[in-house]
Amino acid sequence: MGFPAQRPRRLRSTPALRRMVAETEVRPRQLILPMFVREGATDPVPISSMPGVVQHTRDSLRKAATEAVAAGVGGIMLFGVPEHHDATGSGAVDPDGILNVALRDVRAEVGDDAVVMGDLCLDEFTDHGHCGVLDADGRVDNDATLEVYARMGVEQARAGAHMVGPSGMMDGQVGVIREALDEAGFADTGILAYTAKYASAFYGPFREAVNSQLRGDRKTYQQDGANAREALRELALDLDEGADMVMVKPALAYLDVLSRVADVADVPVAAYQISGEYAMIEAAAAQGWLERERTILETLTSIRRAGADVVLTYWASEVAGMIDR
Ligand code: PBG
Repeated sequence: MGFPAQRPRRLRSTPALRRMVAETEVRPRQLILPMFVREGATDPVPISSMPGVVQHTRDSLRKAATEAVAAGVGGIMLFGVPEHHDATGSGAVDPDGILNVALRDVRAEVGDDAVVMGDLCLDEFTDHGHCGVLDADGRVDNDATLEVYARMGVEQARAGAHMVGPSGMMDGQVGVIREALDEAGFADTGILAYTAKYASAFYGPFREAVNSQLRGDRKTYQQDGANAREALRELALDLDEGADMVMVKPALAYLDVLSRVADVADVPVAAYQISGEYAMIEAAAAQGWLERERTILETLTSIRRAGADVVLTYWASEVAGMIDR
């Protein structure tokens, strides 16, 4: 009778042993809370497909941001929900546009105690819901969009963003924004580039979160989920253009991409656990089909294990309150 010489179970036998040898940790400082703020709102508006997440008023945003930072959350990513939309998304470059106003509010509230970021994209502001401006044939015009992104980046920096997060997947976006920031005197404002962003069904609930006007899809600019190598090309371009951090999005369905990007990136890597990932777990937990907190922590641990240094998650505040700093 041959007994096993190797017994991996030994290291799993007590909580203390398991804790001692755990390779991966999730820490509040590594979590970024995405938040929505709605122009003109007098009360927070619940997002039905994202139970527990709301479109904030300016006041409730300030309060929730302060609470998140007190819980130890590392950063806040802001999304604006404007009252009015137009063809060029002019609210995005308006210093009094809701996103810029909210950045100012939140920065005034949290100072340098957390990293304040703005989503740099036009889809929340356009009446057609695309991430850029359209040409005469109704196609998303890459280079015309870059000019708007450059102005948007400068306005966000002026409003107090520590970092801007270009998420529109236009070619050259990082370089153009970097140049505009530098020229306007914002050399210290960083860029968290949405580097590998896939055209995903998991964005579904986000459409409700920002009252999206989108008809059609984003497949001419966001990546095809069939492709991983392409993410490495996007990574090389973003690094060359000056990205300070890079992101893979969505997270759970793209952990292989995240892992490959993290293997070669020489900047910190973020992953975005997006609206559909949130909704899926909340819905199953509400049915009693999944243990809610265990599932949330398991997914966050997996995203970290795959190589993310930081994770954007709608559970950031709650999780920060659940775990040790
Ligand atoms: C674009 C943007 C989107 C998300 C973040 N930035 C929507 C999209 O690309 O369709 C999705 C985030 C989420 O689903 O949680 N501004």
